[in-house]
Amino acid sequence: MCGICKYNVFRVVDHKSFSKELLAWYSVHRRDLPWRKNGSAYQVWLSEIILQQTRIAQGLPYYRRFIAAYPTVHHLAKATTQDVLLLWEGLGYYTRARNLHKCAQHVVNELGGVFPKSYHALKKLPGIGPYTAAAIASIVWGEAVAAVDGNVYRVLARVFGIEDDVGLPTTQRKVRVLSQSLMDYQMAGDYNQALMEFGALHCTPKKPMCSTCIFQDVCVANRLGKQAQLPVKKCRVKIKHRYFHYIVVACEGKVYLNKRKEKDIWKGLYDFYLVEREKVYGFEDLKDGLLAKMKRSGALVRRFDEVYKHQLTHQRIYVTFFYVEVAKGFLKEIEAVGLVSFSREQIKKIPKPVIITKFIEKNDLHKR
Ligand code: ADE
Repeated sequence: MCGICKYNVFRVVDHKSFSKELLAWYSVHRRDLPWRKNGSAYQVWLSEIILQQTRIAQGLPYYRRFIAAYPTVHHLAKATTQDVLLLWEGLGYYTRARNLHKCAQHVVNELGGVFPKSYHALKKLPGIGPYTAAAIASIVWGEAVAAVDGNVYRVLARVFGIEDDVGLPTTQRKVRVLSQSLMDYQMAGDYNQALMEFGALHCTPKKPMCSTCIFQDVCVANRLGKQAQLPVKKCRVKIKHRYFHYIVVACEGKVYLNKRKEKDIWKGLYDFYLVEREKVYGFEDLKDGLLAKMKRSGALVRRFDEVYKHQLTHQRIYVTFFYVEVAKGFLKEIEAVGLVSFSREQIKKIPKPVIITKFIEKNDLHKR
């Protein structure tokens, strides 16, 4: 066996012709993306951070909005974290947005606004891991270092018949070494992007287009009909189910929100008063200090019947909303738990989890 796979494809594939075929395919099929036209390190870095979170079609509008708001790393560094989170709204995993901001500030404050020019130096920046460092170094500076994302794992696992779990660091290293050995060192940036593009457009997770594939003769998955089995991903993380009860507190045309500070999902974003329980409760059964006082005060309560479901990578959140109109005399209790009042216009300008935005759009809270 060759150490890469039990099918010996690594030995029979002519490595030069692999990248040659791939680059020829790329020259015809490459998408016309803004950062591909002599993109600066800032533009490529921004695109790569966004694309770790979503696919190109969904990421492109975000990229455009970021570049319009912050044309250079200096503009981004000067922004407030809140404004960065607001632009990021909907992409999820907000730690990435906070790291994006931190990285911009680091580049401006410590490096004079200039991104480092090597893979190893890039990898030291906040929020930049091996994949992003390799993508930037190869695309912007032409450094011959393989950038391996989910698309690359899929293409190489299928063509070379790699049956190890891609969640394991040893497999990831193996695929990185493989991609490095196939790379055209004169065209490192194009080679990396071609492989990712090929995975995104041709060798897709479902229904790959094997009958028109440039690798159909050598591809193990195609020859053995293993497209659906490769790459092998063993799911180790159990999905956690969480039950959120949001109390939308309103008083005299204002709505009260809370800035999330805990080390939990959505840190830095605004949500309503939250009561988390182990299952879905009705308002009457929810036991909570503030709610008990609200109930005694005779506040007007409305329950929204819909249970909203929100899927995160390792969590499924079930959300029930209650609308509570409190009397002015109750406001000091509300403010004592850290809630802050917002008008309709102000709410639009603060970053919120998508589930909150969806709820607000569906139910015009200020018109009740
Ligand atoms: N996915 C992430 N970055 C990419 C790039 N530069 N080209 C194609 N797909 C990508």
